Amino acid sequence: MSDTLRDDDGVSNPSRNPHLTELVDRAIARMPSRRTLLKAGLGAAAIPFLGGLAACGGGGDDPAPTTPATPGEQMLGFQAVPTSGGDAVVVPPGYVATAFLPWGTPLLAGAPAFAANASNTAADQELQVGDNHDGMAFFGFNTAGNGFGERSDEGLLVFNHEYINPEYFYQPDTDPANWLLPFTLEKARKGQAAHGASVAHVRRNAAGEWSLVAGSPYNRRIHGNTPMDIQGPARGHPLVQTADDPAGTTVLGMLNNCGNGRTPWGTFLTCEENFNGYFGATDAGFTRNTLEARYGLSAGGFGYLWHTVDPRFDMSTNRNEPNRFGYIVEIDPFAPTSQPVKRTALGRFKHENAELVVAPNGRVVVYMGCDEVNEYIYKFVSNGTFDANNPTSAANRNLLADGTLYVARFDAGTTAGDRMGTGVWIPLVFGQNGLDAGNGFTSQADIAIRTRQAADRVGATMMDRPEWVSANPTKPGEVMITCTNNSRRGTAPASGNAADGTTAAGSARPAVDEANPRASNAWGHIVRWNETGGDATALTFDWDIFLLAGQPSNTGLPNAPSSNINAGNLFNSPDGLAFDSFGRLWIQTDGNFSNTGNFAGNGNNQMLAADPTTKEVRRFLVGPSGCEVTGITWTPDRRTMFVNIQHPGELGSHPRRPAGYGDNEIARDPTAFSTWPTAGIRPRSSVVVVRRTDGGVIGG
Ligand code: FEO
Ligand code: CA
Ligand code: CA
Repeated sequence: MSDTLRDDDGVSNPSRNPHLTELVDRAIARMPSRRTLLKAGLGAAAIPFLGGLAACGGGGDDPAPTTPATPGEQMLGFQAVPTSGGDAVVVPPGYVATAFLPWGTPLLAGAPAFAANASNTAADQELQVGDNHDGMAFFGFNTAGNGFGERSDEGLLVFNHEYINPEYFYQPDTDPANWLLPFTLEKARKGQAAHGASVAHVRRNAAGEWSLVAGSPYNRRIHGNTPMDIQGPARGHPLVQTADDPAGTTVLGMLNNCGNGRTPWGTFLTCEENFNGYFGATDAGFTRNTLEARYGLSAGGFGYLWHTVDPRFDMSTNRNEPNRFGYIVEIDPFAPTSQPVKRTALGRFKHENAELVVAPNGRVVVYMGCDEVNEYIYKFVSNGTFDANNPTSAANRNLLADGTLYVARFDAGTTAGDRMGTGVWIPLVFGQNGLDAGNGFTSQADIAIRTRQAADRVGATMMDRPEWVSANPTKPGEVMITCTNNSRRGTAPASGNAADGTTAAGSARPAVDEANPRASNAWGHIVRWNETGGDATALTFDWDIFLLAGQPSNTGLPNAPSSNINAGNLFNSPDGLAFDSFGRLWIQTDGNFSNTGNFAGNGNNQMLAADPTTKEVRRFLVGPSGCEVTGITWTPDRRTMFVNIQHPGELGSHPRRPAGYGDNEIARDPTAFSTWPTAGIRPRSSVVVVRRTDGGVIGG
């Protein structure tokens, strides 16, 4: 993140520390042996849909299993790459990586070319690819080429635009001390236009190269002012009503779209994360209420300045607007005029991604993390069941409208200190577990809007910043999540979230627990759980720590990494996480790239692949200078991988950062730290197309 923007990762979770030593429910959380689980799970119909499009059928084709292994395919069939501090994407021998659809690429009819001096207008930006690419999904066309299907040579690439880096995004203005000033409504509109998501109709040629299908009616920009429907329990609730939308049913735009998910009915799920940063208050007397404090809203915001010129983002006059953000948004990329839908049944928090699984009983389960220090892990279970014979039916398309939202509690299990245990999914249902009038909850709609506070009340486990969740398509019930890092655990004085949801944001400092075993976790870890019986709808699970990142030179608690980390695969701050349809686990990092001290030998942010059975981890890709690697998807045949490079050139922990150099300097010297992907001009977020020169499957 730029210096100008004040991210609140690391400062905004209150809430009571769950008591992992509590024995309540432990008996029912006990797990059958893993052997039993495997037997029970074999052949079950759990279908994660990352790369598993073939399982959905579509376009009238017969339903087929997910892409089978190619002959001789290995779990880690590539040569590891060394770390890099350079300004290029590094991939293994035999692979090529090509930048595709960077920020500013003309996408819609009439779009002008990207202006290298960042002088494009708000109107231009609405027609161009947005900024800070993040979560992404490829939807193949059907055989007829007119809808959702299984083709690997042509489809719709849908990708998020999480935020902007103002120092690169705006051409310097007249104030020598602050290039952003004077700030104007035109600048706010340009920023809003660079958020959201892009839908790009893309096609592969005979040489294996990908290009945008210019003029396609599927190409689309959804941004910070696109009308969308508020659906589910929160629709129409007084907390989402505004002067411009007194019914509380239609909101303009989606913001800070981070990770993603996809559905077997061919829609894209995009996840609003740090929405709080866009709001502020011009009234000097503004005092935030309990709800606003719990979500990190503040009079100053993160520094985008929208509230100073656009009343919609000024809480002084528009108090409920923030309550209309922080949701999972569903988009149908094959219906270019369709209105995106905010699915409030899946809760309101700082959504990272949304991993969808069809459980053996047909219910749709969506796993989600709330990314902030000491926040929670959730899952949604639909009331209805998926009709695999009619994947794009109207009934399937409404499955995310209603269901039960749960939050996770990780218990220590029978043995203390072994970094494994049992867990419980606690329903966030009005009238249950203290979510009632006596504790200030008024309805399910209220819980859908004040989800963090509901989770505080039921004693969920505070985690080390839950990021992406992914489910193993080859092992029903196995799910993993990245916990990226945490500087506010195990530090004195210990404190937790108040059960009544009143703890001010950023004040909790929970003690270490078995699932989050490090004080001041600088490097992050990955937690794995197995749902009881291999059933994603189960209410209990067992868990262990799949990986602790860190420096192998550190020994003993709390800093030693797990034994699968060595001098050849160092990394920190795992963030993006996705299984491919072969069952290979891909890990992307958004960490410290100073390459010194705790992070010596880590180099730039990177992507690794892991064998979920042996736990071997091997580095596959290193990004350019100052970037984050995030967002990943495949064609159904796994022969093209799309990966996103976000914010190359970020100053942050850059090893070449001169003393006294900040955003105002870089805005006037925008090629100082990176010129990726286009030599000679300012750095830009971009998709990267990864292929093998022999046309083989990626990673195998
Ligand atoms: Fe947008 Fe938690 O990363
Ligand atoms: Ca234990
Ligand atoms: Ca992320």
